[in-house]
Amino acid sequence: MKDSNYLKERNAKSIWHPMAHPADSLSNPPTIVTEGRGTRIVDVDGHEVVDAVGGLWNVNLGYSCAPVKAAIAEQLDKLPYYSIFRGTSNDCVIELGDKLQEFFEPDGLTRAFYTSGGSDSVETALRLARQYHKVRGEPGRTKYLSLKKGYHGTHFGGASVNGNANFRTAYEPLMPGCFHIPAPYTYRNPFNETDPEKLAQLCLQALEDEIAFQGANTIAAMIMEPVLGAGGVIPPHKSFMPAVRDICTRNGILLIADEVITAFGRTGSWSGSRHWGVQPDFMCTAKAITNGYFPFGAVMIAEHVVETFETDVTGRAAIGHGYTYSGHPVGAAAAIACLNETIRLNVKDNAAVRGHELFTGLTALYDDFECIGDVRGGHGLMCAVELVSDRTDKSGPDKSVPAKVQKAAYEAGAMIRVSGPNIILSPPLILTAEDVRTILDALRVGLSAV
Ligand SMILES: Cc1ncc(COP(=O)(O)O)c(C=O)c1O
Repeated sequence: MKDSNYLKERNAKSIWHPMAHPADSLSNPPTIVTEGRGTRIVDVDGHEVVDAVGGLWNVNLGYSCAPVKAAIAEQLDKLPYYSIFRGTSNDCVIELGDKLQEFFEPDGLTRAFYTSGGSDSVETALRLARQYHKVRGEPGRTKYLSLKKGYHGTHFGGASVNGNANFRTAYEPLMPGCFHIPAPYTYRNPFNETDPEKLAQLCLQALEDEIAFQGANTIAAMIMEPVLGAGGVIPPHKSFMPAVRDICTRNGILLIADEVITAFGRTGSWSGSRHWGVQPDFMCTAKAITNGYFPFGAVMIAEHVVETFETDVTGRAAIGHGYTYSGHPVGAAAAIACLNETIRLNVKDNAAVRGHELFTGLTALYDDFECIGDVRGGHGLMCAVELVSDRTDKSGPDKSVPAKVQKAAYEAGAMIRVSGPNIILSPPLILTAEDVRTILDALRVGLSAV
């Protein structure tokens, strides 16, 4: 490795960072992370902290997961790459397909389509949803519905269904035919409704209204996160997703569950859909499927969609979609080892227990810090703290505030993520009770710096 002086001198000089202003990266150089162990990361100066971001919602099993590392190393030696486009396959994708089928059996999902990440998974599901209707003889179903505040990656399709202007405006015009429904976000919503159940009902009415307005037979799919993540961790009332499922079914609209962050245990259940008792038609997964050690994803497909494609005799079900790295053997080997370890450690239960501790601790911080407007969580290890400058009018914090909190918390022992006014916490699912205390103590120091 180059020495630390070199790294600091060259930091952000020859690259642009995703989701950052290039000038800001130059004036506030990013933290250079050089090592990871367990739930902790170490920076170029040797400063070690609990990673309350979990990489980027993906390092569920921490940084020392030996079986996944070994699987990657062994597979690199055996077969570092081969394509699975028509005519070829590899041993790893076959084994992984069976494992995923078993894992997602309770979700009613029986086939996998491999991708190289979350945005690819979203793109795949959106495209296959349109194709499904064409195969069935309803080519007019091309539109998409989604939730405001939703995050679905940054490909053009995903950005078009995204519900946050930050990821849209600079890249417009986006794809036509995408329509957004208010999110079940109790802290801020157009109905001024703070009761989660009533708000869910109002959002559902808005969904039904939009379907009637567009015409159900023009809509291919509704895409949603079971718990909205990057948009600021917004868990809906438990009635919400089952009712969306019901509305979609009644209108012949496919339901795509974007579980890029919620699949594999983060909510305290093995999938976010299962958390709410819903079976989607497609489920987008990625991130924790390899513990973040290899870029990989899988779209899981419901049995009735499978039947439509597999029994087609017209040729319309031929899939004209896929990526060079769909089914990469190293990624698939990593995913097999990761899935085994995820199940062996039963991380969903730890996510539920630690998530409860974290959420309770954050709620206590709310009582002590006026700059906290809202605390969200309560469903596994995904929580958010929304900062405000005034609790009464809910006005957002000064732009410099979240960064100040982040810096002081980092110095005090925890890497946290700030996104707009939100502090977002998505630590590894192997988190210990002591790690939770470290995160909460560091946050207290961070908030005291405001
Ligand atoms: C719900 C959801 N969908 C899609 C994506 C995009 O995934 P990727 O960044 O791997 O393309 C993300 C990333 O955070 C996500 O949270």
